[in-house]
Amino acid sequence: MAIDYLRLSLTDRCNLNCIYCTPLEKGRYLAREELLTHEEIARAAGAFVKAGVKKIRFTGGEPLIKKNVVELAGMIKAIPGLKELALTTNGVCLAALAGDLRKAGVDCVNISLDTLKRQTFKRITGADRFNEVWSGVQKSLRAGFRRVKLNVVIMNGINDGEIAEFAGLSVEYPLTVRFIEFFPVNTRSVKLTGALLPTAEVKRRIERIYGRLLPAGTVKGGGPARGYSVKGAKGGMGFISGRSGYFCGSCNRVRMDCSGNVYPCLFSPPVHNLRGRLRSGAGCAELARDIKNIFLVKSEYRKDSASAGHIEMSSIGG
Ligand code: GTP
Ligand code: 5AD
Repeated sequence: MAIDYLRLSLTDRCNLNCIYCTPLEKGRYLAREELLTHEEIARAAGAFVKAGVKKIRFTGGEPLIKKNVVELAGMIKAIPGLKELALTTNGVCLAALAGDLRKAGVDCVNISLDTLKRQTFKRITGADRFNEVWSGVQKSLRAGFRRVKLNVVIMNGINDGEIAEFAGLSVEYPLTVRFIEFFPVNTRSVKLTGALLPTAEVKRRIERIYGRLLPAGTVKGGGPARGYSVKGAKGGMGFISGRSGYFCGSCNRVRMDCSGNVYPCLFSPPVHNLRGRLRSGAGCAELARDIKNIFLVKSEYRKDSASAGHIEMSSIGG
């Protein structure tokens, strides 16, 4: 599978504290001098595009708390050869930024939202910010993005009672609701025993109410989600089965964090750091050569979520 999708984590910080993602012991954040500057991020991104990347997704931490993120989006969007710029956000700052991000060239937005209830939101994220996120969803729907998706991590006993309501959003609004299988990533999330609700069960519960779902067909290189829709719906649904389904064979991604570490797989250690090369003035062709070498070894680092050890989802952004 050709590597044409870069997930770019802009910051290791987040303004939420989700039970399934943020570690209990947050550890130290990276020091300012370890962080890539906007100019360095843009040069690295340009080299990834030269190496074959067509789509870049901003992740975090929470990418929208990155200073001057709109300006950075514009810099990345200007890279010749890049076809799509996307963003995965928790939505807290989105209402204020959606219009400007769209104008700067962000094509698609994925918003993490696991509940439609204010109290449950507080329980999951540690913050009373449901209303802000919901207003971010509404603003995004009006901002003219190519696609708006909601990411819902289903946790048995916490938000599984809302599956039908989330499915209903895909009928009512032109957005894709993705049901994500929970997987433990650190010593905090591992305590959520019994939280995994397999995709098959989530789908069964939706079909009990909406009838048989129509398969949406898979897009080559379109990511791990399997798409479906309810007949006559304005939007669609997706299922991401990191635990019950193994999708490494079709993986087209590579990741870089905010200090220049490059990860061939979500569950692998970083195999290279581009910061030194960026700071010593390496040119685009030189950096692209390094990057292509990482692409060549990607398959050696394949791991599925069940066999994976500890990863910091909160700093690499999924
Ligand atoms: P698009 O398909 O481009 O919309 O994005 P995406 O679904 O890949 O990105 P998003 O950031 O919205 O991630 C949704 C979920 O998919 C998160 O739970 C990610 O952790 C998971 N995910 C994304 N890439 C991978 C991967 O390579 N391996 C595994 N196991 N999970 C992934
Ligand atoms: N299990 C499943 N999905 C997770 N995410 C973060 N942590 C986990 C986990 N333990 C998801 C977030 C976000 C995406 C980038 O990754 O909900 O939507």
